[in-house]
Amino acid sequence: MKTQRIHTPIKAAELINKGEVVAFPTETVYGLGADAFNEEAVRNIFKIKGRPGDNPLIVHVARLEDIKRIAKEIPGKAMALIDAFFPGPITLVLKKRDEIPDIVTAGLTTVGVRMPRDPIASAFLSACNNPVAAPSANLSGRPSPTTSEETLRDLEGKVPAILTGSRSNVGIESTVIDLTVESPQILRPGHITKEEVEAVIGPVGTAGVINRSPGTRHTHYKPDAKVILLKGDIKSKLTPGSVLFTTLSKPEDFEGDTIDLGKGPAEWEHNLFLALREAEKRYDTIYIEFFDIDESNRGVADRMLRASGGEIR
Ligand code: TXA
Ligand code: MG
Repeated sequence: MKTQRIHTPIKAAELINKGEVVAFPTETVYGLGADAFNEEAVRNIFKIKGRPGDNPLIVHVARLEDIKRIAKEIPGKAMALIDAFFPGPITLVLKKRDEIPDIVTAGLTTVGVRMPRDPIASAFLSACNNPVAAPSANLSGRPSPTTSEETLRDLEGKVPAILTGSRSNVGIESTVIDLTVESPQILRPGHITKEEVEAVIGPVGTAGVINRSPGTRHTHYKPDAKVILLKGDIKSKLTPGSVLFTTLSKPEDFEGDTIDLGKGPAEWEHNLFLALREAEKRYDTIYIEFFDIDESNRGVADRMLRASGGEIR
């Protein structure tokens, strides 16, 4: 299969409307989309990615009124989050309508709903007849791609088309929050923090990060290189021929290869996945200068911990 590069959102939407799978840009990471009401098309997403069938997909819309086509009800707290953060890098888990095929939600009675802010994503979704089910556009288990080039490195020859766009601004996937339970739970940390969510709807839990999001059971974000997080006296722990991703400071008089992830959580988020995907081409071991986790950096810390399998030296 030859993967077609598409530069206009409407052309990409025409393919979706015909039941094809199309990769597309969003402000978090690139997505791999299909018509959420077309079971066969959605099945192809799982096949292409090699994605386990028990990991549900997020359904994307461009218009607020389309949320009602996906979700059975929109509780008050969900409405408040929609007012505050849509369009943006957040996914709300709501009770699903029966019309959404089971394959989309891996058999769950709930569904993740997201409205991307990226203008190309928005134009594309507006031109699709139905909401679009889409996971991140990586092969299952790998870091999510944040550019069209990186998306093609995983999916060239495997998808009919990619809608090309700019580099994803945020760089890590959306914050996922479950609003179907008594007390809302963050299932996946992201750019929008627990504090920002709580400023809108009051206290939320994070127990779900471990327990409830089906996707968090599977291996994630692993590049084709060993990733090790470092704290303390970093320099003494590095091995030759490796690369160090710096976050807080480059160790003094350090001679080895480094990639600077930038200053502070937003820049680390923006750069992490692309840096992992670049570095895997040249190095067997990637060291990351790790930091103390707090609410402002929890999203990017989570991705680093998963990429490394939790190994901190
Ligand atoms: O930023 C994003 O969210 C990107 C872009 C493309 O929108 N998408 C994305 O999709 O990251 P994916 O499939 O890579 O991750 C979706 C996460 C998984 O951890 C999945 O388990 C969780 O959301 N999820 C989806 N639907 C769910 C549901 N009904 N209940 C609980 N967790 C759900
Ligand atoms: Mg993913």
